Amino acid sequence: MKLLLITGGSKGLGLALCEQFKQKGYQIIEFSRSAPHEFSVSVDLTNPEVSRLAVAKAIASINANQLQELVVINNAGTLAPIGQTSDKAFSDLLNSMNTNFVSAILILTEIIARFQSATCKKVLANISSGAALKGYYGWSLYCAAKAGMENFIHSLAVEQQTQPHPFLPINIDPGVIDTDMQALIRATPQSDFADVERFIQRKNQGLLVSPDKVAASIINIIELPSLSFGNRYETSKHNN
Ligand SMILES: NC(=O)c1ccc[n+]([C@@H]2O[C@H](COP(=O)([O-])OP(=O)(O)OC[C@H]3O[C@@H](n4cnc5c(N)ncnc54)[C@H](OP(=O)(O)O)[C@@H]3O)[C@@H](O)[C@H]2O)c1
Repeated sequence: MKLLLITGGSKGLGLALCEQFKQKGYQIIEFSRSAPHEFSVSVDLTNPEVSRLAVAKAIASINANQLQELVVINNAGTLAPIGQTSDKAFSDLLNSMNTNFVSAILILTEIIARFQSATCKKVLANISSGAALKGYYGWSLYCAAKAGMENFIHSLAVEQQTQPHPFLPINIDPGVIDTDMQALIRATPQSDFADVERFIQRKNQGLLVSPDKVAASIINIIELPSLSFGNRYETSKHNN
């Protein structure tokens, strides 16, 4: 059995990944709040411990010896709340960090512990962003979480290389994708997001890439024979 475990597969990039991995014959378990697929598990990442336990339960009965390949994709994410943190409710700040960072780490850790001894090829891909590498006015939480997750992956890569049956952790920058996340950006007032006009222009100029195209590039990356521990890959360099 080839298995995909993915967060945020209900829409956008995650949905396109679910559809394309399904076509390739993978079994899938998808984790999101709306959980629209027959292979979905409903999880709200704003609550890390409840999320971790839901994932643990969903993977508990999988026979690791029957796995031919395991792909884990940390894809779920949110930009909200956009704006300076000092203008926002503390509960919203906490929800953002829990979704993009704390829950992601707990879930990946749960999956690694469960399948560390599985002998098949195991790729663990973190969907990152250009926001991991630079600051944007109004995205400080998102930028912090993306940067933190990239370096979590770097450390995992070092650790996994000491294991007899390692996961192969990588970061993937998917570029600018035509999803609800971009629609949210364009709808944000300039007082909260200073670069909003540039993102509106990008959409008007047809510069956003479809989720299907980005998902195909991610699969190209995951299938690279030369895939290496802790590398950062950009989908724009791996198009069909
Ligand atoms: N769009 C871009 O231009 C762009 C650029 C760079 C990086 N990325 C990254 O690409 C990934 C996918 O983004 P996208 O553009 O496809 O976004 P999207 O269309 O907004 O989809 C986000 C996904 O995350 C899930 N999610 C959000 N909050 C959640 C929560 N509290 N609990 C559980 N699931 C939650 C959503 O599911 P539910 O709503 O059903 O819970 C949905 O499946 C993200 O990591 C994003 O940071 C996107």
